[in-house]
This record gives sequence, C-alpha cells and structure tokens, in this order.
Amino acid sequence: MKALVYNGAFDVTVQDVPDARIERPTDAVVRITSTNICGSDLHMYEGRTDMETGRVLGHENMGIVEAVGEGVDRLKVGDRVSLPFNVACGSCENCVAGRTAFCLRANQAGTAGAAFGFASMGEYAGGQAELLRVPWADFNALVLPEGTEKELDYTMLSDIFPTGWHGVELSRFEPGDSVVVWGAGPVGLMAAHSARIRGAAEVFVVDRHPDRLALVRKAGATPVDYSAGDPVEQIMQATGGRGVDRGVDAIGYQAHDPSGEEDASMVLNQLVQVVKATGGIGVVGVYLPQDPGAKDELSQQGKIAFDYGTFWFKGQSMGTGQCNVKAYNVKLRNLITAGVATPGFIVSHELDLTEAASAYGTFDRREDGWTKVVLHPGELATAR
Ligand SMILES: NC(=O)c1ccc[n+]([C@@H]2O[C@H](COP(=O)([O-])OP(=O)(O)OC[C@H]3O[C@@H](n4cnc5c(N)ncnc54)[C@H](O)[C@@H]3O)[C@@H](O)[C@H]2O)c1
Ligand SMILES: [Zn+2]
Ligand SMILES: [Zn+2]
Repeated sequence: MKALVYNGAFDVTVQDVPDARIERPTDAVVRITSTNICGSDLHMYEGRTDMETGRVLGHENMGIVEAVGEGVDRLKVGDRVSLPFNVACGSCENCVAGRTAFCLRANQAGTAGAAFGFASMGEYAGGQAELLRVPWADFNALVLPEGTEKELDYTMLSDIFPTGWHGVELSRFEPGDSVVVWGAGPVGLMAAHSARIRGAAEVFVVDRHPDRLALVRKAGATPVDYSAGDPVEQIMQATGGRGVDRGVDAIGYQAHDPSGEEDASMVLNQLVQVVKATGGIGVVGVYLPQDPGAKDELSQQGKIAFDYGTFWFKGQSMGTGQCNVKAYNVKLRNLITAGVATPGFIVSHELDLTEAASAYGTFDRREDGWTKVVLHPGELATAR
C-alpha cells in the first residue's frame, strides 16, 4: 500500500510499504477515505520530537472497515468510521474512567497514552496511508452515518474538533462566559467554534495570519492580531479592562513572537494576564518533557518561566493534556449530523495522498490560505 513515511527532519515521502493487516483478534483494518495533516505532525516533521525514521505518520483518520479480527463483534465490514487519534485498550483504569488519552496499556513503552503515527505514543503506524490497522477496534472506532455526506465535517472528529472542545472544557467554561483562544490554527478555530456552540457570550482569537484571522470571523469570534499590538492590551481594552472568564492555549511550546522568534512561555503568561481572577485556562497546545531542539537550556529541559505568582494570586485554575477523544466524539458526531456543528469550514485543501510530501512543506511554512489539509488516499468525491 502507499503511505507517507517519516525519513527525518523536513523529509517525508509517499512510498510503498507492506499492507496493514489484522495482527490480533481485536484488530480491524480500515480503508482510509480521509486523513488530515495536523499541527502536531509538524512538530515531528520539523524534527522537534524523538520520532523514529521509517514510521508512517497520520493520526486524524477516517474510512471504511475493510476487515475485522475474530474477536471483533460490534464493527462490521463496510462500516464508515472515525478513529480517535488516541489508541486505547478500553479496559484499564484510565480508559474505564473515560481518560483514553492516558490509557495504561496501549503504549509499548509503558507510559500513559498512545496514538497512531505519533512520537513517544507507542509503536502504531499512522493512517496517512491506504490502510490502517486499528487495535481494540470495537472500543476505538466511532461508527458514522453511511455514505460520503459531510466527510469534511466528520473527518474533524478524530482529533481537532474534540480537542478544541476539550480546551474549552479544561478551562471550566460555563454558558455565558467570555473566552479568549490563543492561536487561530485548526485547533484554536475548533475551540472558538465549540465555545460558540456551547453558549459563550464573547469569543476572541489571537493570531497574526490574515487568512486565519478571517476564519476567526467565520467562526463567529473576534480576531485579535498580535502583530498589530500587544494582544493583552487589545483584549483588556475590548472588555473595558475586565478581561475574560476563560482562556485556551491552542499553540503550545512552539509559540513565537511577531518576528517569528520562539518563546515557549509567552502565551501562558499572557493568558494569566487576561483571564479574570478565579477564571480558568485550558491548555491543549502541546508542551514536551524535553525539547532538545530548543534554543535555550530551560526549554531544552521542557521547562518554562511561568508567572506562577500571578497565577496563584489570581486564584486561577489550569487544565492540560491530550484530548480524550472518546469522551466527546459521540455527541460531537450528533451535533454534526444535526447540522449544529460544521467543523469542516476550516478545510482549505483536499489533496490526493500522493501530494502529501509537498503539502507538508507548504503547510509547515504556514503559507497563505493553507489552514487544514485533508488527504484522500482513494477516490472520493466529498460533499461538504
Ligand atoms: N492536546 C491535544 O490533544 C492536541 C490535539 C491536536 C493538536 N494539539 C496541539 O495543538 C496545537 C495547535 O495545533 P494546530 O493544528 O492548530 O497548529 P498550527 O501550528 O496550525 O496553529 C498554531 C497557530 O498559532 C499561531 N501562533 C503562534 N504563536 C503565537 C502567538 N504567540 N500568539 C498568537 N498566535 C500564535 C500560529 O500563527 C498558528 O496559526 C499544536 O501544539 C498541536 O500539537 C494538541
Ligand atoms: Zn492532530
Ligand atoms: Zn486503557
């Protein structure tokens, strides 16, 4: 089968690899119809993780069940499914509690949490390929309405729509709250979309790319351009000096100042400033325990200079971590089916899998208009 393979920093190629197959009775094999490139893939693409060479990337996958193992009794061949980026066993303590991003059994290294095609998250191949092996398939696969309708909306269920929702959840959001989201990438836009659906009074989103700020308006939120002036001052001014109830970090450790210089602490510190006393901060942007590629020693050790005193003095709370996709994806699927949620509005490009390598380069440069790339390994006429 054809698959996108990671060869090293800034080097990925689509090549022939052995077909994905059933390895355990509880596996299924899914023929991929849509697989998205994610901002998380770029941390790997840029060589800023410990991703091994030779691995197939891709953790945002959906498709049609091609084969099931003998131990699979819910899923059927032909089912159209969304696959959470988390690989989870379904029976450990964390899975039973709904915390599938911290499954205690799926990661062969023994650490909590596993994912398809992801650095430090187990040995699973990704789905930027024609076929994908899905472990514990009955537990992991979410069945979708059959057909090809709303493919671009449903394909956001594997990661970024639940992740945006999770960011809002981690901030302890309640209807009527005001929210600021840092980062208008796909995750930030999904956080804004989620906050709107959940009844936010006001939503601001901070970024500097004009194409992404235009999408912020499409999500029904107010764009804040941090290259045009201090974003903290802009938000304080827009709220009459009150600040906001909730904040979401949808950027993570590769945040940069307007000149492009990386600064892993700036976003969290700005959030501490604009979120009201006793307000909450949800951090879904990725931070790593080690970052050998960082420019200063503190960041290399995965540490940041955080304004903990102000955070504490304001009585703020913070929630962090990978998204437990299964905690949300049934209801988010239903919101899409009902036409309430339309996460596919962020898709800028639909490409064939064979175009994936060049798409990584273009997406990595955040070229104008490249917001979210959906790859179709097979032939699929999508209907928005
Ligand atoms: N927690 C999870 O489960 C989970 C899931 C998916 C993605 N993620 C992470 O979420 C983050 C965002 O993902 P994405 O796909 O949207 O990525 P992305 O790189 O496309 O978007 C990030 C955006 O942040 C903006 N940005 C950078 N520095 C900024 C600053 N100082 N102020 C304002 N904006 C700034 C960039 O211009 C860009 O538009 C990544 O770290 C990704 O790894 C986490
Ligand atoms: Zn992703
Ligand atoms: Zn588990």
